[in-house]
Parts: sequence; C-alpha cells; structure tokens
Amino acid sequence: MKSLLITIDGPAGAGKTTVSRTLADRLGYRYVDTGALYRGVALEAMDRGISPDDEPRLDALCRSLELRFARGETGTRFFSGETDITDRIRTPEISMMASAVSAQPAVRRALLDLQRKMGEKKAVVFEGRDMGTVVFPNADLKFFLTADLKARAVRRYKELAGINPQSLEDVETDMKRRDENDAARKTSPLRPADDAILIDSTEISADEVVAQMIVHVEKRLASRKA
Ligand code: DC
Repeated sequence: MKSLLITIDGPAGAGKTTVSRTLADRLGYRYVDTGALYRGVALEAMDRGISPDDEPRLDALCRSLELRFARGETGTRFFSGETDITDRIRTPEISMMASAVSAQPAVRRALLDLQRKMGEKKAVVFEGRDMGTVVFPNADLKFFLTADLKARAVRRYKELAGINPQSLEDVETDMKRRDENDAARKTSPLRPADDAILIDSTEISADEVVAQMIVHVEKRLASRKA
C-alpha cells in the first residue's frame, strides 16, 4: 500500500514546489502547498488593511476565513470562500506579507489544525517551512531542500519573468529578507527536522532531486513491508 505522508521543507526558491508536485504525480499522491495558506491570510489581511503586527485582528480574520484547494479543469485552484485567489497570492508584496503574518503564533495555530486535517488521509506530499518539525513530526519521510541564495534567486527571477517586474537584485534581496524572517521567528522557525534528509539542489536539476527522493521513498516502503 502506497500510503506515506511526505514532507518537504526549505527556504524560498529551493525548488520545493516543482519537486513536490512532480514527486506527488509520480507516486499518485496528493500535493499540498501550505505556503498558499499563509499567502491567503496575507492577501485577506492586506485587503482589509490589517497590519501584520496586529495579532488579535489576524486571529479573528483566520477564524472567519475558509481557505481551500479545489481541483478543476485547469489544475488545482486555491479559494478563499467562493473567490479564486490562485493568481492574486503570487505577487512580491504578498510573499513578504505572508512571511510577516506567518510569524504570528495566532496565525500558525489557526492553520495548524487545517493542515493536520488535510493530512489525515496519507498518500500526500506537504510542502512548507515547518511540515517536518511542527505540523507532522511523525511524517513517514522528511526532506529539507535547499540551494545557494544566488541559485535560488536566479530560479525565482526566471520563473517570474514577464509576471514580476523586479530585477534579479531585488528578487535576491527580498528572498534573503524572507529567509531571515522565516528562520528567525520564535514560533515554528524554518529549520530542518533532526530526521530530515537534506538535499542541496544548487548543482542538480529538479528531476535529479525527484529521482533521489524516489530512492528514499522506495527504501521507506520496502522497510515497511519487511
Ligand atoms: O512557500 P511560500 O513562498 O509560498 O511561503 C510564503 C511564506 O509563508 C513564507 O515566506 C513563510 C510562510 N510559510 C510558513 O511560515 N510555513 C509554511 N509551512 C509555509 C509557508
């Protein structure tokens, strides 16, 4: 039975999304992008003029939101209530705001339950920052994917070319700031779980990363049968 719960954590631009999606497809698993949840909270907070420092209002906001993924003809879409916010959450402003609101314990608490519910049925790949450390400490297999800052910035810059008018330097500066925020926060900081498998993707392609992961998945599945 293929029923692992797999977590993939790491800094921005390490290739987590491509790798998580591909790995999930190859295994026939679901894929959950937990960054989208923080981005959803950030977008709704911004629309309402709520400051990322205002924890009580963020707390109330999180309680009132209904964030969900839905599979449609054009792939998986992300909704807040009935509104499709898939594209609106991908701006540089929302990236920075998501990092800021994600440092608030009330926001992390609100999203914790939601994420754990999504993991009740296994056969799923979760992508985020604290999947292996906090949300699913008992995950079957944990990866921490990283790469040099420069390599990550170049990748993100290419990904956003035509959508985001930022220069490569600005992408790199934003990324560095976001990593520092995410790693320095008190609640659930970005760090590898003690039992995570570290993969550095600076010099290798996404396909190679997935190939390495599949080897670990197969080993894990084989050890279960034994
Ligand atoms: O993965 P992403 O770039 O879409 O995430 C946006 C922000 O959300 C990121 O800077 C930190 C936060 N985040 C988090 O704190 N915990 C997660 N599990 C996922 C994202």
